[in-house]
Amino acid sequence: MIPRILSAGVLATLTTAALAAHEPRDENAPPEPTYKVECAEGATSATQCKVDKETYVGWREYKANCQVCHGGGGMGSTFAPNLQERFNKEGVDWPRFYYVIEHGYTGQMGAMPPWDKNKRVMKMRANLYRYLKARADGKLPLGRPGRMK
Ligand code: HEC
Repeated sequence: MIPRILSAGVLATLTTAALAAHEPRDENAPPEPTYKVECAEGATSATQCKVDKETYVGWREYKANCQVCHGGGGMGSTFAPNLQERFNKEGVDWPRFYYVIEHGYTGQMGAMPPWDKNKRVMKMRANLYRYLKARADGKLPLGRPGRMK
């Protein structure tokens, strides 16, 4: 009996730790947006690629609103993180992205202010995610992508 109680306790601790790595998040976020990217073989610039309209708009809005801190293509700067790493190593997924854009995020690197007063950025959350997810998945090189018809 005692070992069973103990293992339940360990399990609960592990579960809490695993969840904490992905917080904060909005469990009521809409379904995860998807992107389409087609690149020429061995493409080294996004100009050799075509993306769907939503992802293209995401690139444009990223450049207008986020690049000043997060650098070209989300590669990071001295004061804001590389977003590919946040997606791939820190477990930033769609429900978390959806949440942190609205509420902002403070971590070890600094503070990102909330975007809730910026109607345009709030409306563009899905498109921003499409672009950044394509970058994080290694599907889209740096630069201005072409647009699918
Ligand atoms: C004023 C500078 C600034 C701007 C502009 C900015 N960010 Fe950030 N962002 C930050 C900083 C700083 C952090 C990291 C805080 C930390 O972890 O210490 C961050 C973190 C993030 C994270 C990771 C949060 C997490 O959960 O780890 C995401 C995703 C993000 N930003 C997306 C965006 C998007 C999309 C835009 C454009 C709409 C944007 N940021 C614009 C400064 C900025």
